[in-house]
Amino acid sequence: MERTMKAVVLTQPTEAKDVKLAQWPVPEVKPGWVLVKVHAFGMNHSEQILRLHEIQADYIQKPIIPGIECVGEIADPSDSHLEKGQKVIAMMGGMGRSFHGSYAEYALLPIHHVFAVQSDLKWEELAAIPETYFTAWGSLFECLQLRPEDTLLIRGATCALGYAAMQIARAYGCRVVATTHKQEKLALIKEADESVLDDGRLTGKVQGITKALDLVGPKNLKDTLTAVAHGGIVCHTGILGGVYTLNGFDPIKDIPNGVYLTGFFSNAPSRQVVEDMFRFFNEKNLVPVSGAVFDFAQISDALIAQDTGSINGKIVVKMTD
Ligand SMILES: NC(=O)c1ccc[n+]([C@@H]2O[C@H](COP(=O)([O-])OP(=O)(O)OC[C@H]3O[C@@H](n4cnc5c(N)ncnc54)[C@H](OP(=O)(O)O)[C@@H]3O)[C@@H](O)[C@H]2O)c1
Repeated sequence: MERTMKAVVLTQPTEAKDVKLAQWPVPEVKPGWVLVKVHAFGMNHSEQILRLHEIQADYIQKPIIPGIECVGEIADPSDSHLEKGQKVIAMMGGMGRSFHGSYAEYALLPIHHVFAVQSDLKWEELAAIPETYFTAWGSLFECLQLRPEDTLLIRGATCALGYAAMQIARAYGCRVVATTHKQEKLALIKEADESVLDDGRLTGKVQGITKALDLVGPKNLKDTLTAVAHGGIVCHTGILGGVYTLNGFDPIKDIPNGVYLTGFFSNAPSRQVVEDMFRFFNEKNLVPVSGAVFDFAQISDALIAQDTGSINGKIVVKMTD
């Protein structure tokens, strides 16, 4: 008899209030893919875009179970090296877009995007990590080549990624200057060594910046480039400013001499980075930052919270035990 599970199954643009859990077949394993029993998942802006608009695009499989990341345990290892019951995190690689994702009790996932982890964190704590902390880690270490002696500017710090980057950089020993574009949100970044209200111009307002993580993006990128010190590196990772590309960008004039520009894209998570990240977490006893935890049965409330922007930080959804 076919086994079924609870899942969010979308076929068309769907408002948060209309999202319900459906009964759906538990996927059958196939070579190269493992079955993960999902214990919790973090929610992402890209899933919101998919649910509200992008689902209409031809390249999105329909019906689709959304969700680009999750944490859980191996329910069926198929032909992989993993063992049943192994604690894993999974992310990206087409999850929730070209094949079914994590808004379900089980997910069939390609082995290259499933990573074994050692962690004593609770499922809902672990679920704040995969996509957000992988992106923060890659931006800080692969792109910005962060060193403990750096002064790091995080532009647009009042988002899940900003809080994660701030936590990692501070634990690493850096001085952190964090910005928000809202006066009332300054209190949310008080863990930073310096919190700054961003009115669109930071040049001259912040000093001694050796590395900059820009989460606002092209809207203010030219100003970020002139706000860092000579020899500084700017990593463009976020697009919170709502401007996605930079027309009329003149690299000769817009990138100051001796300043470096790079960008990070989280599409290809690697085992090495996941291992480095968890070693750091375990050594420093860090508990990842999240904004709110919802039960899977309350998925509609979690999505409403996402759409209304009422939660500061990562929204996590936990499966009912
Ligand atoms: N490069 C990659 O591979 C990658 C991977 C993951 C995420 N990202 C990007 O990184 C950014 C952060 O992602 P996230 O998941 O951490 O976001 P999130 O937690 O969903 O945060 C969104 C919040 O950021 C706040 N925000 C802060 N500064 C802002 C500004 N200047 N303009 C507009 N909103 C601002 C907004 O709240 P307030 O307006 O109330 O402050 C908004 O509610 C996004 O642009 C996302 O697309 C990139």
